Amino acid sequence: MKVALITGGAGAVGAAAARMLALDGFAVVLADIKTDQTAAVGAEIERNGGKAIAITADLADRDAPARIVGTVEKAFGRLDCLVNNAGRTGASTIGSVDADEWNAILGLNLTAPMLLCQRAAPLMAAGGGGSIINVASRVYLSGTGVGYTSSKTGLIGLTRALAVQLGKDNIRVNAVAPSFLNTPFNKRLVEQNSRLAESFKKMSPLNRVGAPEDVAGAIAFLASDRASFITGDVLHVCGGTQLAPQPD
Ligand SMILES: NC(=O)c1ccc[n+]([C@@H]2O[C@H](COP(=O)([O-])OP(=O)(O)OC[C@H]3O[C@@H](n4cnc5c(N)ncnc54)[C@H](O)[C@@H]3O)[C@@H](O)[C@H]2O)c1
Repeated sequence: MKVALITGGAGAVGAAAARMLALDGFAVVLADIKTDQTAAVGAEIERNGGKAIAITADLADRDAPARIVGTVEKAFGRLDCLVNNAGRTGASTIGSVDADEWNAILGLNLTAPMLLCQRAAPLMAAGGGGSIINVASRVYLSGTGVGYTSSKTGLIGLTRALAVQLGKDNIRVNAVAPSFLNTPFNKRLVEQNSRLAESFKKMSPLNRVGAPEDVAGAIAFLASDRASFITGDVLHVCGGTQLAPQPD
């Protein structure tokens, strides 16, 4: 049985990706700081006939990646897919950002994925290869908060570097870049600007905002053998909002 490790597995995108990967036949390992919610997602997947393990982990802790991958190795002896999905926002303006908050964002959104890739790659290679999917964001094109944008743009840089370095082990490394999704992640932003969802909807030629399942579909595709010759790429899950604006 193929095995997928999903960080932020208790969240909207992480849980949707875990459900979809479980339907595709993966045993899923969910790693998240929220113990109860992670266990609940795992239990739901098991109830539906899948195999799931829930791990409580704070990915701001530099030792967490080694512990998580160690648990995967002990439980399954293999790893076929890593989804670096846990993320946070904050540190929005250059005038207000402080170094501690900057480091916290970069730590979770970029350093933890790098450490997880470092630990996961040898286990994947030993099993004949695998797929790493980094959950970036459309902000790498549009720019927004300084910490968040820098971390997600860095994650795309990591994706490209590792695609080059790990290809020899048949490990593909790609990113997905979602646009605004209707998830609790955006609660604060929506409170500040109640028209945000509507304006993203208008920007999309498809005239809607994205759902976690839209991102999960892209993740499941990149995890599958159907994407076997795709590496170093960014799959935009943006409903066309990544395109330059059209003239009226
Ligand atoms: N929601 C959006 O509009 C949107 C758009 C583009 C990209 N993204 C990215 O998608 C990913 C998932 O977003 P979501 O909408 O599902 O958000 P979410 O808040 O529902 O899920 C994020 C998960 O990460 C977990 N997490 C946070 N800090 C952690 C830590 N220190 N250690 C372990 N786990 C931790 C949270 O507990 C949560 O379950 C994020 O990386 C986000 O940046 C989201």
